[in-house]
Amino acid sequence: MIIDWKTIALNIYDQIKAKVSLLKKKPTLWAILVWSNSASLRYIKQKQKWADYTWIWFNLIQLDENIKEDELLKIVEQFNKDSNISWYIVQLPLPKHINEDLIINTILPEKDVDWFHPINQWKILIWDNSWLVPCTPAWIMEIFKSQYVDLIWKIVCIIGRSNIVWKPITALLINAWSTVISCNSKTIDLTSFTKIADIVIVATWQPGLLKENMLKKWSLIIDVWFTVIDNKIYWDAETKEIDNAWHKITPVPGWVWTLTVALLMKNTLKSYEIQENK
Ligand code: GUN
Repeated sequence: MIIDWKTIALNIYDQIKAKVSLLKKKPTLWAILVWSNSASLRYIKQKQKWADYTWIWFNLIQLDENIKEDELLKIVEQFNKDSNISWYIVQLPLPKHINEDLIINTILPEKDVDWFHPINQWKILIWDNSWLVPCTPAWIMEIFKSQYVDLIWKIVCIIGRSNIVWKPITALLINAWSTVISCNSKTIDLTSFTKIADIVIVATWQPGLLKENMLKKWSLIIDVWFTVIDNKIYWDAETKEIDNAWHKITPVPGWVWTLTVALLMKNTLKSYEIQENK
C-alpha cells in the first residue's frame, strides 16, 4: 500500500494557512540560492509556491554560482546582523568550491529554520522539544502520526549516516522509546537487521538496495530519496515489488519535496510564535 502523503502534506499546509491568516504581521522567510541547478531551482520554486499558499512572505536572493566562499560568508553574516531578517535558509547543495559545513555553521542558530546548525542539532539530541525539528526527520515523524504508529517497542532499522537526516531521526526515535538499529550501505548482512524491523527508513542513493525478501511481514518502509539515471527514477527500495506484497511504503515522485517544504513552513510559523512569546 502506498501511503497517501499528499493528504498528509495538504493537511499540514491548511493548518499553517489557518494560523497565519489570523496573524496581523505575516512571517517572512528568506532564502539564498547559489547554485541554480535544475533540482535546486525546482525545489526553491516549490518553497515559493507553498509559502504563497500559506501566506508566508518568501524572499529569494539568487547569487552567481561562481561567488567566492568568503563573499558568500559575508552575505550570511549580513543576514545574521540584519534585524529585518528573522529567518532564512541557504539552499543546498552548494557549488563544490564552497564548504557547505562552514556556511551552515555560520548561520545564526535562531535564524536557522532548516535546523541544520550544530547547536540546533544538539537540541534534538538532548531532547529539547520546545524548539524546531529539521524538516526531513519531522515529516518522517508526521508519517508515523498519520499511520497511528505507536513507536514504543517498535524496532526501527535506519539505513544511512548523514548529519541532517539520519542522526536527528535516530535521536527522535530514541526519544520516542523505539528500539533503533543503525545500518548503512556497507553493513554486512543487512537483511539480518531489516528482517526483524517493524519500520525501515532508507536513503543511500543505491537503487534497489531494499528488496521485498529482506523485509518482515507488515513492515512500514520509508524511502526518502531516489536516483535519476537517464531520466528514469530509481528508488532505494524496490517500490513496486514491495507495494505488491503486504507492506506500507511511501515513495511517489514529488512527495519528498512537498512534505519537506510543508515542514519548512511549519518551522517558520513555529519560529514566529516563539519570537512572539518571548
Ligand atoms: N536541499 C535539499 N533539501 C534541503 C533542505 O531541506 N534545506 C535546504 N536548505 N536545502 C536542501
